[in-house]
Amino acid sequence: MHLTKQEERTLSGEEGFGRQKAMELVVALGEIYRAKRLIPITSAQISGASFKTIGDAGIKFLEDFSHEAKVSVRASLNPLGLDERRWQSMGVDKKFFDKQARIISAYKSMGVELLYTCTPYLAGNRPRQGQHIAWAESSATVFANSYLGAMTNREGGPSALAAAVIGKTAEYGLHLEENRRPRVRIDIKVIPDGMVPLTGYLVGKLAGKRVPFVNGPSMSEDEHKSFGAAMAAAGAVSMYAFSDSKRRKSTNTSQIEERLSIDARDIQDCADGLKGDDAWDLVAIGCPHCSPSELRTMARALKNRTPRKKSDVWFCTSRMVFARCPKEVAVLRKFGNVLCDTCMVVAPIESSYRRTASDSGKAMVYLPTLGKQKASFRSTKQLLEAISR
Ligand code: F3S
Repeated sequence: MHLTKQEERTLSGEEGFGRQKAMELVVALGEIYRAKRLIPITSAQISGASFKTIGDAGIKFLEDFSHEAKVSVRASLNPLGLDERRWQSMGVDKKFFDKQARIISAYKSMGVELLYTCTPYLAGNRPRQGQHIAWAESSATVFANSYLGAMTNREGGPSALAAAVIGKTAEYGLHLEENRRPRVRIDIKVIPDGMVPLTGYLVGKLAGKRVPFVNGPSMSEDEHKSFGAAMAAAGAVSMYAFSDSKRRKSTNTSQIEERLSIDARDIQDCADGLKGDDAWDLVAIGCPHCSPSELRTMARALKNRTPRKKSDVWFCTSRMVFARCPKEVAVLRKFGNVLCDTCMVVAPIESSYRRTASDSGKAMVYLPTLGKQKASFRSTKQLLEAISR
C-alpha cells in the first residue's frame, strides 16, 4: 500500500506512540484487504462503549490507549450499558456503573463526542452523500451507506477509533464504487403494517454478504432505519440499494447475478417464527434508538390510554432526541422508562429480565444471544396495545 511521507512519519512514531499504533492498525487492515492507499474521513462512529460488551480487557485497552491518543476528526460514541442519569431505575448495579464510568472517561479524554447513540445521524453527526467515514455500529453503517449515500465499511470498535485518531481509513470495500454495486435483486410487492423490520431481516438472510437491490414499496426515513438495522444483523449486509431512492438513476444494476423475491407469506412466516409467547417481563422499543417522529407517533397513540403495568417497558432513544421531545417523553413516561444512552441489547438486562418483547428485527437477533432473553417479536402497534388499555 502506498503511504505518503506524512503517513510514513506517523507510522514510524515521529508523531507519538498513540498515532503510531492507530496507523499500524489501519495499515494492517489495508494490507489484508489490498487497499492501495489511505483516504481522509470526515467522521468516525465508535462501538465498544458498553462494559457488558468490552469487559475488563476492553477497559484496560482504552485506558492505556487514551494516555497516548486523541481523535483528529469528529468521532461519536455508541450506546453504553446504562443510562448515565437513570441507571438505578434500570436495575444496574454500582459495580457495573463504576466500570462504565472508566470507559466513558477514557473516551472523553481522547476527545470522542459522548453522543451514546447508534443513531448519530439524528444527533448532529449526519454525513453527506459521497463522504468517506469510518463507522462501526452496524445499523448506523448500513443507514449511512444506503440512505445517506456516505461511504463506510462496517468497522470494528478499535479500527473506527484508530481511523478517528489518524483521520484516515484504508480505501477498500465499500469505499470503492465498484463494491457498492448490487449483486442480488430482491423484489418485494407489499410490506404488511408493522413488518418493515422483519422484511429487512429476511433481506439480510437472503443477501448474506452481497449488496442487495431492494425493489419494493417506498419507505420513510424511520422505516429505512429499522429495515437496514435488521438486515445488517440477520446478514452481513452493510449496504443496500433501493428502488425509491433519489439516487435510483445512478444505481448500477449490471452486476446483479440473482433475482429473488419476498412475498407477504414469507413475512408472515418470519413473524410466526419470531412470535415467541405473551409472557414477557420487559417490552423494549427503540432499536435503533427512537427518532423524534417515532416518539411523537407513540405518544399520540398512548395519549388517551392508561398503563396496563403487566411488564416493565423501556423506550430507548438518544439524549438529544429526548431533549427535543419533552411533551412526548412526558406521555411515554406514564407507561414505562424513557431511557437515553443505552438499549436492551448492550445493557445488562439479563440480570433483571428473562423474556423480552420488541418491535425490532435487530433485537430479535441479539436479545437471545447477547441478552440471554426469550424474545418475542410484535409490531410497535401491538406492543403499545399490550402496555395500555
Ligand atoms: Fe442501537 Fe442497541 Fe439496537 S445499539 S441498533 S438500540 S442493539
